[in-house]
Amino acid sequence: MDHFTLRDGVLHAEDVPLPRIAEEVGTPVYVYSRATLERHARVFTEALADIPSKLIAFAVKSNPNLAVLKVLQRAGFGADVVSGGELRRALAAGMPPEKIVFSGVGKTRAELELGLAEGIGQFNIESREEGRELAELAASLGQRARACLRINPDVDAKTHEKISTGKAENKFGIPLVHAREAYDELAALDGLDLRGVAVHIGSQLGDLEPLETAFAKVGALVDDLRAAGHEVTHVDLGGGLGVPYKAGEQFPSPAEYGAMVARVTRDWGVHLTFEPGRVIAGNAGVLLTRVVRVKRGGNGPPFVIVDAAMNDLARPALYGAWHDFDAVAPSGERMTANIVGPICETGDTFAQDRECDALQSGELAVFRTAGAYGATMASSYNSRGFVAETLVDGDRYAVVADRIDAGAIMDAERVPDWLA
Ligand code: LLP
Repeated sequence: MDHFTLRDGVLHAEDVPLPRIAEEVGTPVYVYSRATLERHARVFTEALADIPSKLIAFAVKSNPNLAVLKVLQRAGFGADVVSGGELRRALAAGMPPEKIVFSGVGKTRAELELGLAEGIGQFNIESREEGRELAELAASLGQRARACLRINPDVDAKTHEKISTGKAENKFGIPLVHAREAYDELAALDGLDLRGVAVHIGSQLGDLEPLETAFAKVGALVDDLRAAGHEVTHVDLGGGLGVPYKAGEQFPSPAEYGAMVARVTRDWGVHLTFEPGRVIAGNAGVLLTRVVRVKRGGNGPPFVIVDAAMNDLARPALYGAWHDFDAVAPSGERMTANIVGPICETGDTFAQDRECDALQSGELAVFRTAGAYGATMASSYNSRGFVAETLVDGDRYAVVADRIDAGAIMDAERVPDWLA
């Protein structure tokens, strides 16, 4: 459930009519709803009420905006980060270092050092090589890095291949068959406080079954490790729960997810970490855009050309992803259209042959479910600058990320003397 609703024929974010934001901030612009973020945080937390010891670490990659992180920090969430930049953002939003988990296959030496210097709660180690490097760095600083070993359970998450992370051929984690050996080696290093294992099999999962299969494999590994004399106190179950992108689509609820986790992990006796991203932020944001013009089609439907493009919301171009597209002030009439941005490639298509609200030049519309993996994946392709972001709270809103126009980006470039 979200707080983007029609009132008196006009789409509002909570109590703010979207035309107000479009007029004052310009378009395209992301609009996030604080009440929706808080609601999702509460629902997810309540779904895990039966888990005695846990940390919910928001996957910062899904929406790294500082104001969004602040809302979640106030809801008691920590952060799952995958770069030094995300780590700095989590700290800047006031996340306590002990609630920060650092994932990712390619953490550089400088990033490992940053994590150690900030005293973060957990590194999720993705290879023996990384574990050795982290151990050596920590030991040289007189520290023991708290860590989990990320395993690759070879489970098909049944999601888009580009966001599947738990199959044997994916780059993530240590194959289950090598996990015991790797754990034995790394647990013996002075610089590491290896406390358990981590798993994350993919994103936008529409079915709990692959998650349950992966968790069961983790449970068996925990038993093995304990039988081999290791003390296992922590397990990180990653993120991945999907959300509906089409009105009416059904997805497993956080409550169903929580019940499954409670059942599978009942006898593990460990502290559990969760890394939800999309399920918290996805439906808490829309991308507000204005129709530039409607162009007659060749042998197909008309092109509705909007002022947002694939550089602002990459998911349709990158994954063929569906985002519901609705008029801000629907007339009640419908049309079939190709919804496209202004960028000079055919990939800049948001939807083909889409039945949607009838729209005309100058009218406003939204792409829904754009709060996760939206602004964070923006680029400045075609020198369009970086899209602005706003956060609504009741009847007020704030610009929480300025639009960075093409001029400011150009200011960071220079022509060397020898070319001038
Ligand atoms: N933990 C780890 C280790 C991850 O790699 C991810 C997402 C998450 C947690 C959060 O997953 P979530 O709960 O959001 O599903 N750009 C793609 C999604 C990439 C997801 C990458 N990893 C998209 O737009 O669909």
